[in-house]
Amino acid sequence: MKVLVTGGLGFIGSHTVVELQNSGFDVIIIDNLSNASIDVMDGIVSITGKTPIFEKLDLKDKAEVQQFFKSNEDISGVIHFAASKAVGESVENPLLYYENNINSLVYIIQEVKKLERCNFIFSSSCTVYGQADSMPISESAPIKPAESPYGNTKQIGETIIKDVCKIKESFNAIALRYFNPIGAHKSANIGELPIGVPQNLVPYITQTAAGIRKELSVFGDNYPTNDGTCIRDYIHVVDIAKAHVIALQRLLDFKNDTNFEVFNLGTGTGSSVLEVIQSFERVSNQKLNYKIVNRREGDVISAYADTKKANTVLGWKAESSLDDAMLSAWKWQQKL
Ligand code: WQD
Repeated sequence: MKVLVTGGLGFIGSHTVVELQNSGFDVIIIDNLSNASIDVMDGIVSITGKTPIFEKLDLKDKAEVQQFFKSNEDISGVIHFAASKAVGESVENPLLYYENNINSLVYIIQEVKKLERCNFIFSSSCTVYGQADSMPISESAPIKPAESPYGNTKQIGETIIKDVCKIKESFNAIALRYFNPIGAHKSANIGELPIGVPQNLVPYITQTAAGIRKELSVFGDNYPTNDGTCIRDYIHVVDIAKAHVIALQRLLDFKNDTNFEVFNLGTGTGSSVLEVIQSFERVSNQKLNYKIVNRREGDVISAYADTKKANTVLGWKAESSLDDAMLSAWKWQQKL
């Protein structure tokens, strides 16, 4: 079966391509290489021995998207990762985010909904919850006004898909709301490749330990949490990738209860920034150089997942611990 993975050379996309190939799917990757390197293809092939079809294509170009689907009508499913995803950048450049993340989604759905049956997996984010009122966060938690244009594009994306599902029974979609994906494939042949200064905690930790950054700044230790630093649900990227294959298989097997479903992807455990640092020091056996600085604008105090729905309905559960994920991130950084 042919599966289209947009943004398939990105961090989560590439790990999902590996799991799809391991499950016997033929994969087509679309990527415009704006935030990924073509070298990731070699990493994928070195793990699975299978070469995905690759199309360098910008999904903002409607004609290109139409052209692609004209010559690829036998696609069984689409996993849509392609989007800009830096929270801070989205605040500085909102129109770039609305154009890239929304237009590309509309153009791809316009084509996909023409297919006989469409199975569409959408890359969403726990950002849609904003600062949830209580922990753990379940899928029924209210969607709060987005803290950033990036988060807003995820909320708008889910609404667009929901509205299409309402009028088109043969359009079947699952939105997967990731908490904080971290780590790398155990082979260390693929992993997170932030361009420039990392915005996210874990790549900043590993680059500091590797001597690329002088020291980690911890954004505030005066939050109302056990050690004063923010709490997140850090989940191994391979666990996230496996959930995508399970979600796609659910649609291919007509097992979905409704044609629009939402699942949180997390471990269900919250970890503070200092606990992540301690985990890194434990698995790397080296001290991390960090200092406490002021809070970062827009950070929520705490966010970790209620995983009951994904565990019972989707039949998926995160298998890796925080230490496993941190060790895999460190091995990847050392290989880089
Ligand atoms: C985690 C914690 C920071 C960097 C964002 C997006 C989310 C997803 C993942 C795209 C926070 C602290 C961080 C640093 C720090 N992105 N931190 N020093 O903000 O939870 O989630 O990235 O899909 O949608 O919202 O992740 O890794 O940036 O921050 O102290 O140098 O680490 O304050 O508490 P975040 P993060």
